[in-house]
Formats: sequence, structure tokens, C-alpha cells
Amino acid sequence: MKSARYDSIGHGYADQRREDPAIRRLIEEVLGDARTVLNIGAGTGAYEPSDRHVLAFEPSDVMAAQRPPSRVPALRIGAGPLPLRDASVDASMAVLTIHHWDQERERGLRELRRVTRGPVVVLTIDPTVSRELWLMKDYFPEVAALDDAIFPSLETLSEWLGRTRVEPVPVARDTTDRSLLAFWAHPEWVLDPAARAATSGFARMPASVVDRVVDAVRRDLEDGTWDERHGHLRELSHYDAGLRLVVAEPRS
Ligand SMILES: C[S@@+](CC[C@H](N)C(=O)[O-])C[C@H]1O[C@@H](n2cnc3c(N)ncnc32)[C@H](O)[C@@H]1O
Repeated sequence: MKSARYDSIGHGYADQRREDPAIRRLIEEVLGDARTVLNIGAGTGAYEPSDRHVLAFEPSDVMAAQRPPSRVPALRIGAGPLPLRDASVDASMAVLTIHHWDQERERGLRELRRVTRGPVVVLTIDPTVSRELWLMKDYFPEVAALDDAIFPSLETLSEWLGRTRVEPVPVARDTTDRSLLAFWAHPEWVLDPAARAATSGFARMPASVVDRVVDAVRRDLEDGTWDERHGHLRELSHYDAGLRLVVAEPRS
């Protein structure tokens, strides 16, 4: 089995990426009265319910090792053919993971639909929105280009999953889940190696690109350019940076 991507980029993930309570509530609401939940790309167990039967599938040893004892152990299973019968779990969730599924994105999502009796909940990013964020637009076009390639469009998702509804999820300024989108009000995080390393956007880029982005943001913070252009963002409590909750409705 080839080694999992997060075995190289997942170190220190749990420290920087703690679940955001508002996102947790949104997911719980969609899970409704499901008693059995499949969490795929389950990582360190963030957003996983603790009051239902959970099956956690996670291909990376490094991520699985960061799961707290309060979470079920994760089985080393990735997106693709799933060892589950049709409609055998009440609900399933895939949180900020489908963009890592490479050639298995379509099959993985169709498989989630197949094995799930009720809602399939996918937290993902609409790259047509995230590319407008100052970080991608002014400094880091490489990540916008990568995101275009790896995030399925919302239309494609509904082709693969059947009927879906999509909810924008504004990112709180003080979110505890420091994804790349959470940098919207925190240009200083670009200068923090631990914050950068916990985002796949930075972690997957060549060092020369990362260095260029860090140098440019540092310069613009020091001479006031960043605040002149984007300082108004520091006043906002939430911002729509492209995070989307996609819910595939239960089979009728
Ligand atoms: C950004 S993390 C999100 C983890 C967790 N869902 C959360 O919200 O904290 C992405 C996760 O997707 C997992 N992943 C990567 N490739 C995968 C694949 N082919 N199939 C399933 N999961 C995968 C990674 O190992 C990692 O745990």
C-alpha cells in the first residue's frame, strides 16, 4: 500500500486544527437522528459525533495516532470501494477531505452514497469563491490553481451524490480550526510555520513558493500595505471564504 499523504504532512495537525463549535453544530444538525455514522477521511476525529455508533475510516497512521482516546480507533481505509453493504449506515460525513482523494474522488463519493441510508454530509470548498481571498489573489495563485484541480465543483458533486443542498459556512475570525481559509483575518499566521504546516495548501507547495509568499506577506505587513488594502477584514466577525456544507439528501 502506498504511503498516505498525511503521513508526511499531518504532523502537529491536532494542535492547530481543533474543531470549530459552530461547524460541529451544523454537522450534528444534518446528522439528525442517525444512530450509525461513517466518517471518512476521519483524521484526528474532529467533528465526529460522540453519542452514536461511529465507523472511522482514515488512511494515514500519523493522523490516526492523533485521535484522542474518546474517539473510536480509525480503520486504515481510504476513499474507494468500501467494505460495507448498500444503505448499511444511517449517515456519513466527509469533512475537508474529498480534495485529497485524487483519482478516487468520484468513486469514493458514489460509494458513500451507496452505503448510506440517510444524509451524506460533505464539508468542502468552492474554489470559485476561495480564489477571491486576498491570500490566493494577491500572493498565492498556485494554491488557487491547485484548488481548481482538486475540489470538485458543486455541480459535479450533485452529479455524483444525487440531489444536494448547499449551505455557505462563513468562517469565524476566532475559529479554532485553522484551515487555510481561516487565515482571512490573520495575515500574521502566514509567518507562523506551525500554522502553515497544518494547512495542505502550504504543506503541498514547494519551499521556494512558500518562501516567496511568506516574504511578500511579511513585507506588506511591515510597511502597512496589507492593512491599507485588507485591514477592514480585521473588523469582521465572519467571512465567506468559500467553505460549503453539501448535504446529499436521503434516498427516497
Ligand atoms: C484536512 S484533513 C481533515 C481531517 C478531518 N476530517 C477533520 O475535519 O479534521 C484531510 C484528511 O483526509 C485524509 N485523506 C487523504 N487522502 C485520503 C483518501 N484517499 N481517502 C480518505 N481520506 C483521505 C487525510 O489523511 C486527512 O486525515
